[in-house]
Amino acid sequence: MTQHDLHEDNRVSWNLATEAHNSHKHDQAAFFRAGGSTLFPDEIELLGDLRGKSLLHLQCNAGQDTLSLARLGAAVTGVDISDTAIAFARQLSSDTEIPASFERADIFDWLAATERHFDVVFVSYGALVWLSDLQAWGRGIARVLKSGGRLVLMEFHPVYGIFENDWELTYDYMGGTHLRFGGVGDYVALSGDVLAPSGYEQGVVEFNNPHPSHEFCWGVADIVSALLDAGLLLRVLREYPYSNGFKRFADMRELPGGRFTVPEGMPQLPLMLGLVAQKAE
Ligand SMILES: C[S@@+](CC[C@H](N)C(=O)[O-])C[C@H]1O[C@@H](n2cnc3c(N)ncnc32)[C@H](O)[C@@H]1O
Repeated sequence: MTQHDLHEDNRVSWNLATEAHNSHKHDQAAFFRAGGSTLFPDEIELLGDLRGKSLLHLQCNAGQDTLSLARLGAAVTGVDISDTAIAFARQLSSDTEIPASFERADIFDWLAATERHFDVVFVSYGALVWLSDLQAWGRGIARVLKSGGRLVLMEFHPVYGIFENDWELTYDYMGGTHLRFGGVGDYVALSGDVLAPSGYEQGVVEFNNPHPSHEFCWGVADIVSALLDAGLLLRVLREYPYSNGFKRFADMRELPGGRFTVPEGMPQLPLMLGLVAQKAE
């Protein structure tokens, strides 16, 4: 299979999963109209003041975070491969009257073709595992950043990704190993209210996605090297002992603010990675 075929499989799988995810979220337009935001304090801190900035949100899914970023004063563009996600994002932007531009595309094609340049590129929560070529990703981001512009990444930590079945060591840590899975699952149902701040609804029950998906294992050095090799300067690198909004395993402990951490008695692990990389002035 070519890289393009793998991404197409993921598009089809994400289309169905996005419907299931949104089925659990009560009236999102009303939530935003009432001033709601789906962002966590950790990314807001790394993003800094967004007023008057142009911002590209890569792999924006159904646009909830993109609209929340617009609310902070940025002129936002969201790009995602999923037709369902982009249709939903456009509808939500229209229903809430929060201005945003959404484009459906494979980010590799989009980053290579666009002539636009941005002050900020934002990538977050469950994005990198879908990328088959991290070096091309780094080059694409460097290409679309303005001089002095910054990439802000808030991602689940690669260490978190090596476990399955309640903390059994299962997957490679690094190197881009290709993993084939049955289909993108319904992680919103697992996390409940935390990923449905507008209110949780039962929605789709026992979701079973028949469309296969492809993920890739990237370690911290793979991520940082992709950015350094593309000429970006590393400004901030953080590890967090909790994961925002994602209860991956049933025994995880919930902390205030929608954070989840390891069960009682387990040594602390890095569960999120925060990073800022800048294009030289
Ligand atoms: C876990 S979601 C990211 C959620 C996102 N952080 C948000 O704000 O909601 C991963 C997203 O990556 C998208 N995706 C996967 N591969 C892609 C590709 N090659 N190009 C563009 N989007 C892709 C999927 O469609 C999905 O919406």
